[in-house]
Amino acid sequence: MQRLDMQHQLDEFENRAAAMEAADDIGSNPSATETIGDLVARRLGRRDVLCGALVAGALAAIGGSAGIFGTPKAQAAAKSRYVFDEISHGVDETHHVAEGYDADILVRWGDPVFADAPAFDPTAQSEAAQSKQFGYNNDFIGFHRLASDRGVLCVNHEYTNEELMFPGIGRQDKKDFADMTPELVAVEMAAHGGTIVEIVKRDGKWAVDTAGNLNRRITAKTPMTLTGPAAGDARLKTSADASGTRVLGTINNCAGGITPWGTFLMAEENFNGYFWGSKEAASAHPEAASLKRYGIPGGWYNWGRFDARFDITKEPNEPFRFGWVVEVDIMDPTSTPKKRTALGRFKHEGAESIVNKDGRVVIYSGDDERFDYVYKFVTNGTYDPSDRAANLDLLDDGTLYVAKFSADGGVEWMPLVHGQGPLTEANGFKSQADVLIDTRLAADKLGATPMDRPEDIDPHPVTNKVYVMLTNNSRRKADAVDGPNPRAENNWGQVLEITPADGDHAATKGTWDLVVQAGDPADPQVKAVWNPATTANGWFACPDNCMIDAEGRLWVTTDQGGGWKKASGTADGVWALETEGEGRGTGKMFFRVPIGAEMCGPCFTDDTETLFVAVQHVASDGTKEWQPFGRESTYDDPATRWPDFDPKLPPRPSIVMVTKKGGGKIAT
Ligand code: FEO
Ligand code: CA
Ligand code: CA
Repeated sequence: MQRLDMQHQLDEFENRAAAMEAADDIGSNPSATETIGDLVARRLGRRDVLCGALVAGALAAIGGSAGIFGTPKAQAAAKSRYVFDEISHGVDETHHVAEGYDADILVRWGDPVFADAPAFDPTAQSEAAQSKQFGYNNDFIGFHRLASDRGVLCVNHEYTNEELMFPGIGRQDKKDFADMTPELVAVEMAAHGGTIVEIVKRDGKWAVDTAGNLNRRITAKTPMTLTGPAAGDARLKTSADASGTRVLGTINNCAGGITPWGTFLMAEENFNGYFWGSKEAASAHPEAASLKRYGIPGGWYNWGRFDARFDITKEPNEPFRFGWVVEVDIMDPTSTPKKRTALGRFKHEGAESIVNKDGRVVIYSGDDERFDYVYKFVTNGTYDPSDRAANLDLLDDGTLYVAKFSADGGVEWMPLVHGQGPLTEANGFKSQADVLIDTRLAADKLGATPMDRPEDIDPHPVTNKVYVMLTNNSRRKADAVDGPNPRAENNWGQVLEITPADGDHAATKGTWDLVVQAGDPADPQVKAVWNPATTANGWFACPDNCMIDAEGRLWVTTDQGGGWKKASGTADGVWALETEGEGRGTGKMFFRVPIGAEMCGPCFTDDTETLFVAVQHVASDGTKEWQPFGRESTYDDPATRWPDFDPKLPPRPSIVMVTKKGGGKIAT
């Protein structure tokens, strides 16, 4: 087998997992160039500008820092809106949930999605079997109710870990994928994409219905169409598709969304990592500047060795057909998924929507890379709750905006529209298709604010505030800190809150504030900001996914990657995070994952009686740092065999279902 010059693409990182998390260079000596006094002064100043002399409010908002850093401050414990007994930080081989709750496995990698799916046999896995079984690395979870005892679960399968999936393989990215065969790659492709599966509720708990009419697996080979303004553009045409409108598959689907009309939005995130080719091929590519801005080819997988689509030398335009938001009509399992180009092309973390007060639909999406941007898309048409069919193509027509944050607390949403401002032919944008295909380059031209890795973004259906998870950015320098990204060498992330002007999500103006600066509030070097009511277990690092439940409460899940030990010393998990009143900025730990996993989902049912969470890449990240194990995990030698703890079975990414013992709403 020809060995391509791939090494440069992973040189920057310890391995693919690190590259994907982009969290490899977590430092231990955070810069102290900005003092807490500076922070307080700046925030007070901003509040004064915004709200008159709301100094008391500002002090309350930064109470965490004042209390933590030694200013005596009486703190009346605010009444928590989250009623449960907090669990503790820690790391071990299994999951933990607050007392009084059950946390049952709903579905695992390899479990049947269809009645005729073969039983899971990891020693003889095949593409055909995997195509009928639950995929790997579950991330986003969406729930759509069909009846009181029946619903549809929509799950993204973000990526694959060959060292944990296949016996005797080990970590291939360090060995130029020498042991990867076409058969194993085909299994990987079938383990990507998504699962749509009906679930039924019996005796208070949900179970997969493999006979469900809506059950469907979507993979890296499922036929899809490109729709919207960029569809058919010359740069989307390949040797297999002269129309520039037909694509096979979706990859690296991270967070996502469920639209008000009940479709599943699958956000394509680190798609660059799947493309293969030499450094020379990338620089000789006619779109070399675009490839560079998107990190293509990443060379994290060797799919291009067996499938020309993923080799930029053979199919130079294929990368332009990924990086979109895919819309799937879950009510029709024969429907063709659509890549909605109007929403732009970048490393979409998620795609959560809200119906604006004027009936238009607004979708928020982060571009998860260090120094990339926060976006929103506003439809031109309005949502019609009485005519589902009329909503099905709403996402093909609208305006994409990118955010600029100012130090005085303002937000400006700048339209990415061809011909407006610098988005002209003279600057390399000949059409709206160019603006959308090269969204990052267009947003650069507009002067968008480089953020600390925007992950999931969820609008609050009642307050209209928008919560942005900024996960970390170890490379932000002291001279580049700004309002919403206030820390250099930020290994812990922050939760940003955007308030649209007049509660109008289509408005081009808004304001911003921080809910917390994550990390350990007891370590002055971290410069964390929490409400002082937060306990030693209530703080977290590296917010990633989030959800607002039907009670209007924010829940945050974390992904610290291999840097968990330095970032927090605890495994990832689910935390409640108070956003309102005196308790604002108080965290409280509800659920914890096993060693090596990140916590995805989370997804509450509409009655708040069930919380689904996704335990992703269990036994994978940072197992070397966990003393009882102290080495990298493989299929044959994993740090844990969660959730089965069967010596014949590997660890398996799984969806966990949390319910209150005896029933009832969670955390009430
Ligand atoms: Fe796939 Fe940005 O997390
Ligand atoms: Ca994520
Ligand atoms: Ca979410």
